[in-house]
Amino acid sequence: MSNMTQTNPETEEANEQMTVVGESDEELREEWIQYEFEGEPKFSVRDLNVWYGDDHALHDISMDIPEKSVTALIGPSGCGKSTFLRCLNRMNDRIKSARVDGSVKFENQEIYQDGTDLVELRKRVGQVFQSPNPFPKSIRKNISYGPRKHGDINTGLLARLTGRDDSDREDELVERSLKQAALWDEVSDRLGDNATGLSGGQQQRLCIARALATDPEVILMDEPASALDPVATSKIEDLIVDLAEDYTVVVVTHNMQQAARISDQTAVFLTGGYLVEYDDTDKIFENPESQRVEDYITGKFG
Ligand SMILES: Nc1ncnc2c1ncn2[C@@H]1O[C@H](COP(=O)(O)OP(=O)(O)OP(=O)(O)O)[C@@H](O)[C@H]1O
Ligand SMILES: [Mg+2]
Repeated sequence: MSNMTQTNPETEEANEQMTVVGESDEELREEWIQYEFEGEPKFSVRDLNVWYGDDHALHDISMDIPEKSVTALIGPSGCGKSTFLRCLNRMNDRIKSARVDGSVKFENQEIYQDGTDLVELRKRVGQVFQSPNPFPKSIRKNISYGPRKHGDINTGLLARLTGRDDSDREDELVERSLKQAALWDEVSDRLGDNATGLSGGQQQRLCIARALATDPEVILMDEPASALDPVATSKIEDLIVDLAEDYTVVVVTHNMQQAARISDQTAVFLTGGYLVEYDDTDKIFENPESQRVEDYITGKFG
């Protein structure tokens, strides 16, 4: 039994034994996660801890996320990537057992404080999930759903009731968003068709277009291509790189090559909910400081 404890990477003892230079990861991590970049951070996270009941899922996470770039979050299953992502627009609030402690500043504004307008926050910090989840409505109505809900666009019954018909603006919005998501050419002649009839890859681009339609500044993506074939995946990857010209993208992926291809910086989380290293993507993949990170990205564990 004691042997098993020593080789089980999930134990604290094993974590300490697996470091490069004999010091514990705990001491070195401070330096490895200090990522310096030009410009203001879009997000500044400090001492973030998350629990689900008694389960401590994220430990003292501190990191700054630069704007208009792609930040990849990688690490083995259960290390807290989705949990971290959800903290950036307070989606964890929806999970009853979740408790969050620490600070997340979005453009220098603390989001974990009373009075934060969550609707506004989630409008500015949009998200796309692992499995595409189009609404069972037309392609057009999927795209305009958010702006209609927020009262920015009135069509149909609402237009008749309010005397304001925004059908032209809806058309413009639908076209712009679908073009941004590189889907327009494939669907422009069938905007009235039900979105559930699209292929998986098209549905995922539709969900990205829907997220873009509310005019966000940040797009959070949790394994957006994991359910897609290689061709659809490559379209999503190209799209993410293009989006980073105008948006801040934070993307969780299990696919190392994908992280290496599309991201500017990479944060590596490891078992137990620790951020172990955060740096330029090239540095992480070519010359990481942490032996555990090197082992993880070369496939030795995780
Ligand atoms: N809704 C929840 N209720 C209780 N525990 C949760 C919940 N969501 C996550 N956890 C726990 O928190 C830890 C981190 O989970 P999380 O989903 O953030 O990991 P992950 O890195 O995204 O994993 P994966 O790569 O498998 O998606 C895990 O131990 C998980 O069991
Ligand atoms: Mg996850």
